[in-house]
Amino acid sequence: MEKPVDTPVRKGRSLFAVSQSVPLPLLEVSADVDEARIFIGMNEMDRVLGGGLVPGSLVLLAGEPGIGKSTLLLQILCHLASDQKKVLYISGEESLTQIRMRSERLREIPGGLWVVCESGLDRIIEIVEEQGPSVLAVDSIQTLFCDEISSAPGSIAQVREAAARLMQLARLKGVPTILVGHVTKEGAIAGPRVLEHLVDTVLYFEGDRSHTFRLLRTIKNRYGPTHEIGVFEMTEAGLEQVPNPSEVFLGQRPKAVPGSVVVPCMEGTRPILVEIQALVSPSHLSMPRRTSTGIDSNRLALLIAVAERHLGVALYDRDIFINVAGGLKISEPASELAVIMAMVSSLREVPLDMDTAVFGEVGLTGEVRAVGRAELRLNEAARLGLKKCVIPWAGSDRLKFSDSLEILPVKRIDEAVAAMSEVS
Ligand code: TYD
Ligand code: MG
Repeated sequence: MEKPVDTPVRKGRSLFAVSQSVPLPLLEVSADVDEARIFIGMNEMDRVLGGGLVPGSLVLLAGEPGIGKSTLLLQILCHLASDQKKVLYISGEESLTQIRMRSERLREIPGGLWVVCESGLDRIIEIVEEQGPSVLAVDSIQTLFCDEISSAPGSIAQVREAAARLMQLARLKGVPTILVGHVTKEGAIAGPRVLEHLVDTVLYFEGDRSHTFRLLRTIKNRYGPTHEIGVFEMTEAGLEQVPNPSEVFLGQRPKAVPGSVVVPCMEGTRPILVEIQALVSPSHLSMPRRTSTGIDSNRLALLIAVAERHLGVALYDRDIFINVAGGLKISEPASELAVIMAMVSSLREVPLDMDTAVFGEVGLTGEVRAVGRAELRLNEAARLGLKKCVIPWAGSDRLKFSDSLEILPVKRIDEAVAAMSEVS
């Protein structure tokens, strides 16, 4: 639970904002162009937003510190500014030099990108009035402060006030505004969570920091689809769009080895093929280890229980590790059958065929239940050159999919595991 914190006034000006609260052009200014929806020109971004930025809307770009929010924001602004628009980047976190250095790694700096280091809300509003940018970005909401509020920047009261006033400003001027907000893993810190109801769009930028892939998820969108995702890869030159995620996620898949199963997951409207890996090995602990990365650990416990009961396999004396390759998080029940098959494959040291994909939800009685969007999943598997797919039996006779794919419909998990010998 987030509790309002009332800390004494701290005139928390950014270190760099003291004598520099005047916007400077990174290069030269270009003329404004007004349009209805403002197209960013980055496919992954535009799709996630539902076709570009809406004038006067407030977008929250939230994520853990260090995940790449500022980098993504600068890239968005660079794209927008190169389109003859004046965009204003207000940073309370980094110095102008740091911003310039970061931009140089990214792409050519457009003339229309203006920057200022400022965290005082009153001054920010003044600056926007003076400059009249076409797009405004504030990095981050936690650094802003309003003189009238007696708590420190980042406290709930400050964050709320700042967001409310920026919302007013965005509406009044018709300027689309992007706010960066930091969240911790628990989402407990004052910040983005309290703003979700206020802003028009909430985008979560997530990924495993030890991997290069990043997902941008729409959590809320008053002007477009939710549950849409954009896929990016963090490189030396900033974030690169990944238009074909399945290829990338399967790119490093080992040759047929035990414990590896491909599952076509739905992320928003897009099917993405991901590899689930399981390692099941004898345990030397009285409480065997059960570790999952990318899959909920309670769900894993449940799947282990279902497998023991309905497949008659002994897992109680095994350590079990589950990993979703590439650092993706999968919350879809459609991945459950694949998790079970990966565990059995590892336990028995029998690899599945490289050309096989698996999907289906698993019930407590060991039944395999139908999942939505089966055709999209099958066609994505076919597109990536897979040849076989183990799928839920229910409804499988009505599916239309590519001729190059053979389906193996199953009613129960034991049938699926029996089918493994056919596909291994
Ligand atoms: P950053 O955008 O500063 O994260 P946030 O604003 O969410 O806190 O980026 C964090 C990491 O990205 C940082 O560790 C360095 C890395 N990075 C790259 O790998 N390539 C790049 O081109 C840039 C600019 C950053
Ligand atoms: Mg940042």
